[in-house]
Amino acid sequence: MPQVSSSSLKVTAMQAGCHALFRRGGSLMRHSAKLMLPSARAGTTSLSARQRAPSATPTLCDQYFKRDVSTSVTSDLHRPQPGLVSASQGHNTLKVWWREEESDEYPYVWLRDNCQCPDCFLRSASSRLFRVSGLSLDVRPKDVQVSDDGSFLHVVWEDGHRSAYEAKWLNARAFNPRKQSVYNSMYRLPQELWDSDMSQRIPRASFDELMEDDAALLKMLECMEVLGFTVVSGARLQEGELHRLSERVSHLVPSNYGTTFIVRDKRDASNVAYTGQGLDLHHDLVCLHYKPCVQLFHCISQFPGKGGDSVLADSFRIANQMRELYPHKYRVLTEVDVNFRDVAVDGGLQFDIIAKRPMISLRPNGEIKTVNMTTFGRDSYFGVSPEEAVSWYDAYLTYCDLLYRPENHFAFKMEVGEILIVDNLRILHGRTSYQEAYEGERLLEGGFWDWDMMRSRRRLLQRKLQRSS
Ligand code: OGA
Ligand code: ZN
Ligand code: ZN
Repeated sequence: MPQVSSSSLKVTAMQAGCHALFRRGGSLMRHSAKLMLPSARAGTTSLSARQRAPSATPTLCDQYFKRDVSTSVTSDLHRPQPGLVSASQGHNTLKVWWREEESDEYPYVWLRDNCQCPDCFLRSASSRLFRVSGLSLDVRPKDVQVSDDGSFLHVVWEDGHRSAYEAKWLNARAFNPRKQSVYNSMYRLPQELWDSDMSQRIPRASFDELMEDDAALLKMLECMEVLGFTVVSGARLQEGELHRLSERVSHLVPSNYGTTFIVRDKRDASNVAYTGQGLDLHHDLVCLHYKPCVQLFHCISQFPGKGGDSVLADSFRIANQMRELYPHKYRVLTEVDVNFRDVAVDGGLQFDIIAKRPMISLRPNGEIKTVNMTTFGRDSYFGVSPEEAVSWYDAYLTYCDLLYRPENHFAFKMEVGEILIVDNLRILHGRTSYQEAYEGERLLEGGFWDWDMMRSRRRLLQRKLQRSS
């Protein structure tokens, strides 16, 4: 049985040979058991000076949002209400004219499908009730009227069903790229890829502000979408802070390591993350088909000596460099399926989890959807021919060469009370080695968030703050 264990995963000095910081990797092994802080175990709650949380730093996410990335549907709150002037029936579509002397065409089948009457649409669920059995490509209006004030379009269908569409509703859903881009920018914010210069402008937020101030929370969520990471400061030096912050953002997404997990150097570690070893830049839990979206590390206690630094890189930027410089190798990484596996027992749960996926996963339009990279969680089983394996390694090591160039990653050391939040679909994280006694001082609590819930929160906050402005 193949084991993805720490002993089998000694990395040959980061095969690319360019990173002394990373000495070896290993499968990630976690448990959800609560650990007490050393101070609490010793029966005292007082904290040493070094362990006291630094005072909350001001929100620096602001600097990234001088331009307005929040071009959400809410921005039409401030636009004049669109008014209908006339409508004329075409073959498959209804053409409507707006007061602004613009016109838009709406397919009949779409209009019928999206009738807003109470029989066809359940307002309390914002959901279509109209069943597919009632829909036909041949559906046609018998009569079409624009209300006198231009605020409604009334349609009577051939079967006698009556629909009414509010002008504003119709206008927002127009089948033209300009209006569709408003929806798309509300869907996802554009990403800004970065290099090691990012170490000079790490986006920061304060825990207390995030808990109390919606504007600060919105900035942080925007930062996460655009830059892919944030450092939050001012969390209390105890477990449970991720739960508190999650109440404001997203539920914590459980994995085979529990709802949260403790990262600490342990005797007989079942996981390299539970040692003082360096961790190659990686994404977490690539073995899961629902690879966790966003990762949180709350630094409750830090290693006082040299080491234990966090390392970050933007995997999409490296992938773009690959596409430009080595298009053939890029293709190999997007096409060849790799086996990612996690075989272990954690917190009493035994698992053997496998996901087959390429290292670079694309959307149908060629955009990068996610990068899947982990030294520790990549299985030794490889379902390709020897020649294909060699060409995959060639492409992979080229990616690593680019990644470990000084301009493509940076290191910083988390302070106690800081929470590092990273987009696990995009941003690679790693750790430099540190040496301390088992059950030593360094202790992080980790957890995962979900992008859908985070984007949902961002959209709701955009709407709420726009309304109140
Ligand atoms: C992990 C991990 C980083 C650290 O547990 O997945 O990457 O700083 N840990 O310990
Ligand atoms: Zn209807
Ligand atoms: Zn990790």
